[in-house]
Order: sequence, then structure tokens, then C-alpha cells
Amino acid sequence: MNSYDLQEMQHLNEDFRKRCTREVEKRRDQLKIPDGPLEFVYGYGRNSAGIMLIGEAPGKDEVRMGRPFVGKAGSILSEILENTGFDREDLYITNVVKYRLSREGKRPGTVANRPATTFEITNSMLWLIGEILLVRPKLILTLGNVPLKAMRHIAQYFQASQEACDLTELQKSYYEEYLQMSEIGMCHGRKLTCSFKNFTATHIPLYHPASLIYNRGLRKAYDADMKEVQQCVALLSE
Ligand code: URA
Repeated sequence: MNSYDLQEMQHLNEDFRKRCTREVEKRRDQLKIPDGPLEFVYGYGRNSAGIMLIGEAPGKDEVRMGRPFVGKAGSILSEILENTGFDREDLYITNVVKYRLSREGKRPGTVANRPATTFEITNSMLWLIGEILLVRPKLILTLGNVPLKAMRHIAQYFQASQEACDLTELQKSYYEEYLQMSEIGMCHGRKLTCSFKNFTATHIPLYHPASLIYNRGLRKAYDADMKEVQQCVALLSE
């Protein structure tokens, strides 16, 4: 049983898919996105544990399967979650940017991934906020720098505006500032607080699971961070 209204989530996704596509299409050449429709993957999971995981954007495997984190990074994530005693199905997993960040590959006719631009991140934030307000997680785990910065920006914005804020203002404000202020190396495993309209969530930044492929030395830090997560979950369920 999902802890949020599936129909409302479906409406939210359909609405933002249109809005997002409209804005991206205006800049397709500038972003160098190959021809063809944008390849969207929506958030997924029951959220029965009250935990939301946020990554950067889906890749090729996620597009093929229509679910976030099902490729290489996804298997590492599943292993980490299993070792920590979580059932993936009980969590809600999503990405800041909901479509594959594609560019033409080096060989003709191939497609490769690319990093998200600041425009794409800010253009996706209202969608992410919509999801958070529907899912109302107790704990948010961001995976890597992009969702960390997006969440700090969102939290700061809600803190500054206090009451029901004009969310469109968010895109005009100062995301760039947060690019410099929060780096995953500085704040992984820390407990941060995000207060939304009428609920508060704890946010723990984690490294992106794919970083364990390139840097095995991060494993120790990751294990320690997951201990923090376990403790936090125990406290939240008291
Ligand atoms: N990496 C991400 O950030 N998100 C996915 O869904 C898959 C890989």
C-alpha cells in the first residue's frame, strides 16, 4: 500500500512532464540534446518506510526499465540498502531531473550521458518539490552532489519564505550560490533539517552509489554514513 495518493502523483507527473518538455524544447540546440523525444523516468516506490531517495537523473538502463536506479549504480544502491536492512520497495526513489541527460556519443549514432546544467536542475525543482509535498517523507537521502545542492536550495527557500511560498520565485533565486556552499565531501552523513509547508524532514546527504565504482576508498565513509541513517530511522520510528 503506497503512503501517498497514486492518482495525484500521476497528475503531478503528467503536468510537469509537459511543462518540463516545453521549457527544454526551447533550448534543445543549446543543450545539444540529440533528436527524439525526451526519455522520462518517474519516481517510484511505496514510501511505507517514510524514506525518499533522490538521485541526479536516469540513465540508459533506467529508461529501458522505466524505473530509477536499476542499472549499475542501482545494483550498488540495492546492496547498500539490503546491508542496512531496508527493503527497497518500502522506499520512494526519484531523481532531480526526470529525463535522461543525453548527448551525442563519440561514435556516430550513439548516445551518451552528460551532467545536468543549472537550467535543467532549476527547471526540475518545482516537480521535485511537488513530489516531496505529496510523499511527505520523514527522511530524505540525497545521492551525490546534484540532489544535495537542489535540496539545500529548496530547504533554504522554504525557510526564507516561512509561509506558503510562491514556488515560481524559486527558479529566479540563487541556486548558483548553493553550488559552492554545499559539497558532498563536506557534509555526507550529516543530519540536516528541511521544514516544508506543514511538515519537517531530516535530510542526510550520501555519496552517489556510482562513486563507489570509481573510488573504492569511499566504502568506509559510506558504511559510516549508513550507520547514521540506521540510527536516524530508529529515532524517527520511536
Ligand atoms: N543515477 C542516478 O542518479 N539516478 C538514476 O536513476 C540512476 C543512476
